[in-house]
Amino acid sequence: MTDETLVTTRERVSSPFRQESSGQFRNRRIRVPNEVNLKSCGLLDSRAAAVHRATLAVFDSKDVLTYPILQPVYSTLADRFGVDDDCLVLTAGSDPGLNLLTRAFPRVSRIVLHQPNFDGWAKFAAISGCVLDPVAPNPQTGLFDLRDLARRLSGGAPAFVVVTTPHSFTGQVHGADELAELAAAVAEHGSLLIVDTAYLAFTEGGEELVRGLAGLRHVVRVNTFSKCFGLSGARIAVTIAHPAIARHLFDLDPEGSVSTLALALLQRSLREQAVFTKIWADVRQLRERFATEVERAVPGWRARPSGGNFVTWDVPSPSAAASASRHLLDQGIVVRDLSGAPGLPAAVRIAVANQPVVRRVVAALGGWYRGAVA
Ligand SMILES: Cc1ncc(COP(=O)(O)O)c(C=O)c1O
Repeated sequence: MTDETLVTTRERVSSPFRQESSGQFRNRRIRVPNEVNLKSCGLLDSRAAAVHRATLAVFDSKDVLTYPILQPVYSTLADRFGVDDDCLVLTAGSDPGLNLLTRAFPRVSRIVLHQPNFDGWAKFAAISGCVLDPVAPNPQTGLFDLRDLARRLSGGAPAFVVVTTPHSFTGQVHGADELAELAAAVAEHGSLLIVDTAYLAFTEGGEELVRGLAGLRHVVRVNTFSKCFGLSGARIAVTIAHPAIARHLFDLDPEGSVSTLALALLQRSLREQAVFTKIWADVRQLRERFATEVERAVPGWRARPSGGNFVTWDVPSPSAAASASRHLLDQGIVVRDLSGAPGLPAAVRIAVANQPVVRRVVAALGGWYRGAVA
């Protein structure tokens, strides 16, 4: 038998390794020089960069010759969130944390969530074989109501129920009472509530709103450090769950991709809480100024109240949103045109970076408006 005959024979055999795939989730992002990314809402603050620079300056490269030690970070996080170590699961960013949750319970095939929502959910649903069961905001007000999630949930089998607070498209913040009410309905139904608090650090008194959920059997909180500590590139997040739920995640080796360097960057950020507390307060203040200055510069734009490090403006038309976004892009400023999403017929979301960037965006939008009406 020649080699050629062998190959031909093998090709005839049906093999799972011969199936085609598009490799759909490959990251093809490129860095554009001088571009200001106000789309993904990272923490663009020089004080945060200085904290990380200090970590890197003293980082002992010997520590990467061996595998990471996670326990000290778990202890610090347990103190911070007021829970036991065995409630915490570190992951390389919250994407894998959310994804693991959907894979850890293979009998669950439905994700009830407000729509629009973080794009990751469509991806995790595809990966884990779940279907999204989307719930739109109130068509009159554009606001999300947690009772709508409870109502949708009750019509089907136990499911994942997702709440992002503040909401990552609009900045809407949910109160402690409505969260408690939803948590009770989810428990009653035998479902699991996933609370994504990616932007909660930018909400005044935000931690108080979710404190009552800690330790509940049917509630999981996923908290990335990408936004609050400016660690998007480090890939580090924590999931806070009842130990019985956390153990399901540990069955899937969640910590395998957490690096020593990410742990060092997180540990120092946690120690430098005072720096970040000040940054978060400054972002909140700047956010309110940004919202009103854009409203003043661009008549017809209306800012939504936001608890995140971004502002979303409802604008007169989708074409205005597209034209303004394109104008900003021509100046190297990337923003998110949300037009057409449920409850957001025409809207633009822009991250609150720092004062010079805010000034630049306000000036650019004012220039765009004057050009558009001229
Ligand atoms: C609401 C929300 N959750 C989770 C994430 C993902 O965060 P991470 O960088 O930890 O994967 C994002 C990122 O933009 C987000 O907006």
